Formats: sequence, C-alpha cells, structure tokens
Amino acid sequence: MKLIVLLLGLSTIANAQNLLKDAIAFRLGASVNPRLLSENEAYNDIAKNELTGLTAENHMKMMLIHPAADRFDFVKGDEIVAFAAATGKRMHGHTLVWHNQVPQWMKDFQGDQKAWEDLLKNHIQTVVEHYKGKVAGWDVVNESFIDDGSLRPSLWADHIPDYIAKSFQWAHEADPKATLFYNDYGQDGHPKKMQAILNLVADLKSRQIPIHGLGLQMHINVDSKRTEIENVIAQSVQTGLAVHFSELDVAVNPKNNPEFVYDEKASAAQMELFKLLFKTYQSIPAKQQYGITFWNISDKDSWLRGYFKRPKEFPLLFDDNYNKKPAYSELINLLNKLN
Ligand code: G3I
Repeated sequence: MKLIVLLLGLSTIANAQNLLKDAIAFRLGASVNPRLLSENEAYNDIAKNELTGLTAENHMKMMLIHPAADRFDFVKGDEIVAFAAATGKRMHGHTLVWHNQVPQWMKDFQGDQKAWEDLLKNHIQTVVEHYKGKVAGWDVVNESFIDDGSLRPSLWADHIPDYIAKSFQWAHEADPKATLFYNDYGQDGHPKKMQAILNLVADLKSRQIPIHGLGLQMHINVDSKRTEIENVIAQSVQTGLAVHFSELDVAVNPKNNPEFVYDEKASAAQMELFKLLFKTYQSIPAKQQYGITFWNISDKDSWLRGYFKRPKEFPLLFDDNYNKKPAYSELINLLNKLN
C-alpha cells in the first residue's frame, strides 16, 4: 500500500515537472483561433493540456463580433468560451475598444457626440453582458497611445471626449465582477508611452473610474533591452494593479532576413528573454499576477508569420510540429529552482 502511495506521489511529481503550467502558481494562457481548435488535433491538445487560460486572438474584436449596426455575431467567440468552460480554463476577453479591426459600418457612422457614445456604450455593454460570468477579465481599451505618449487619433478619440474613462465605466456597469485592463505594446523602449499609461492609471484612479489591471502585450524580440523590460514591469507593478503579460512572443528574426537560420545561438538568445520574463513575473506579488498569455500556440500559428509575411520567424514555445522547444523545459527548470 505504502509503495503504491509512494509511486503515485512520484508520478505526480514527475507530471508536475513535465508541464510548465504546473511549475507556476499563476495562469498560463494563449490566444487561440477557433478554426485551429476544431480542425487541428495537436493544437487542441496543447490548448487543453498545457494551458489554464485562453484569449480569443481575433473573434471578440469589433469587426468580427459586431459586423453590422444591428447585429452581433457571437458564434466563434462562444465556441472558444465553450471550449474554455469544458476544459476548465479562465477566459480573458480581448478587446472592447481598439482603433484597429473596426467594422466598416462604424467607420461610416455619422452622428453627434451623443450618438457616438450610444454606439460605443451599446457595443461594450452588449458584448460584456453576453459573456458575463464566463469571461473573467477584459482588455477594455487597447493601444490608445502612440510612442510619443500622445493619444492615438482614432474614431473613438475623434468623436468621444474622455472615451477611455467612459469605456471602463460602461464595461464595469455591464459586469461589476470583471477585471478590467488597459492593454498596450512597446512600453519598453518608449518611456513617454509608458508615462502616458501611468498618467492614465493615476487619473482614472483619482476619479474612481474602475481600472483593475495593466496588460503588457510583450511582443518583444531578441534585441529588446532587458533593463527597459524590467523597468516597465516594475513601474506597472508599482501601480498596485493586476499585471498581465497579455500577448507574449519573442521574435528571433525581427528584420525579416530571408536567409535567417534559427540556430542554437538564436534559440539561446530567445530563451534568455523567456526566462527573464517568467522569472520577473514570478517575483510579482501573487495578488497582482493575472497571468502570462502567449500570442497563439505554435510558431506556425503566430501572427508574425501571417501578418508580417515573415516566414522565418519562430517566436513561441512550440515548433511547427507542435513539439516543445528547448525553452519549454528550460523554463520549467528555472521555475522549479525559484519555487
Ligand atoms: O479572416 C480573414 C480572411 O477571411 C481573409 O481571407 C484574410 C485575408 O487577409 O484575412 C483574414 O483576416 C485576418 C485576421 O487576422 C484573421 O486571421 C486579417 O487580415 C488580419 O489583419 C488579422 O490580423 C490580426 C491582427 O491583430 C489585426 O491587427 C492578427 O491575427 C492578430 O494576431 C493581431 O492581434 C493583435 C492584438 O489584437 C492586439 N495587439 C497586437 C496584436 C498583433 O497585431
């Protein structure tokens, strides 16, 4: 009997050491694509077995979820949410307000300030209410600042004064329990952008506008400066808000060199950054750890290949055949040492 208990114990330890999600106390997520979830078994297996959180890569964005003024299309978003519920994952919502992936009917919309506010409020509240109780947190506003720290010109900035604060308020009204994030990229290397985000947090807090978290997208690359990354993480933690590495990938071929070879050197440089991020994240107070989310699952699925037409890019933890890359077990070793 004792032997069986011992063996069971050992196998639990072995399993714990095999999976990255078990080496960490915070959520490990990835953005997913519903077509791949249903058509690709290896992709589905990784989503099911390796992760504890999910984000829709595209299907909760305005263009896809609100294709016409009088029509919302929740079909694909619902598929991901159903998969998350069936496999016990936390679902993160991305994104309610963005300048990009806006449907044509919104771009063509004409109206006064009140009409624009009604449009945006209706969009936010219909989506948040639809997923109330199923989506734990939302990227309420995405990428509102440009690198020099000024407000990005957009439909929302052009038509709705104070649209960021209003969006958070509307989202909170629709689901008071949801964790509400401001999400952005490139804070490292762009101190003015980071400062604008910190100013936004201070301003919203001073007006009792409900903001609960900062999403650092972490679309970084092997040339990203370590100290700048550490600084923006520290500054985010100092706000006291939850911190989410919300779209992590580490590009190895940022200049899109067609002759690029993903050799040991490139892999090691990438691994160092993954380790830096996980190690730093591990040191964040537990109550501020919303989690780390990768931007899709395997190198083959990465937006960097499709969107940037960069075929020789390998930014994630799983390779083109859905095998774990060396960084995967390196991370586990590192985290086990830290625990
Ligand atoms: O679905 C259509 C398909 O029907 C059509 O044939 C094809 C032709 O171009 O386009 C397909 O849509 C593409 C969509 O991804 C789904 O694959 C869009 O063109 C393409 O623009 C879109 O790219 C997405 C991008 O956001 C849009 O800006 C990427 O997948 C997605 O990973 C990326 O995600 C963003 C985050 O939301 C915010 N942070 C930055 C991040 C990376 O850009």
